Amino acid sequence: MKIIVVSYSYTGNNEILAEGVARQLSAKHIKITVQKPMTIGTIIMDMVFARTPRVHPSPDILRQYDLVLFFGPVWIGQLASPLRGFLNYLKNNPRQYGFLSISGGADGSNPKLSSELFKRTGIQTVIMLDQHIKDLLPQNPKPSRKDTSGYRLSESEQKRLSDIAVGEINKIIEAQV
Ligand SMILES: Cc1cc2nc3c(=O)[nH]c(=O)nc-3n(C[C@H](O)[C@H](O)[C@H](O)COP(=O)(O)O)c2cc1C
Repeated sequence: MKIIVVSYSYTGNNEILAEGVARQLSAKHIKITVQKPMTIGTIIMDMVFARTPRVHPSPDILRQYDLVLFFGPVWIGQLASPLRGFLNYLKNNPRQYGFLSISGGADGSNPKLSSELFKRTGIQTVIMLDQHIKDLLPQNPKPSRKDTSGYRLSESEQKRLSDIAVGEINKIIEAQV
């Protein structure tokens, strides 16, 4: 099974998580970059007005792969906008895919992610794993949005979260052989 890891990251967390997973799976990893730099302002505008930013590379790169593993942050309960073009591509070029994230989690569990993924691709994910920064922090007092949004994963946290992700991905791969 040919696997590709596709990541977008604004502050680096999802990039290092994706790197760790790609390394362990010996999978190709591509990093989505945006043509115009993202700011908190453009993030909010994209989320409110459903905009899809121009990105590099072209999603056509997915053509050669059987399983696409997307990594990216959650913003205001939604998938990060730079992933949208790639997710839309799957609608006309269906293949198995998953979405994995290290998001903040301070406001809850981002319950709309699965339905957004289905709406954009027309396909159910084979894996959806949203791990939370909130769970890495002391629980008393309860971590706030400010605590989670400025947080950068340490190397040992990245390793732990990547191992969890790879464990889940391997279950999917093993179920298919
Ligand atoms: C504008 C903005 C909105 C966010 N909204 C959410 C949210 O709704 N749910 C959540 O769990 N995390 C949210 N976060 C936290 C990010 O998902 C989290 O910091 C993530 O680790 C960032 O990933 P990155 O370093 O790969 O960009 C938000 C962060 C920003 C900057």
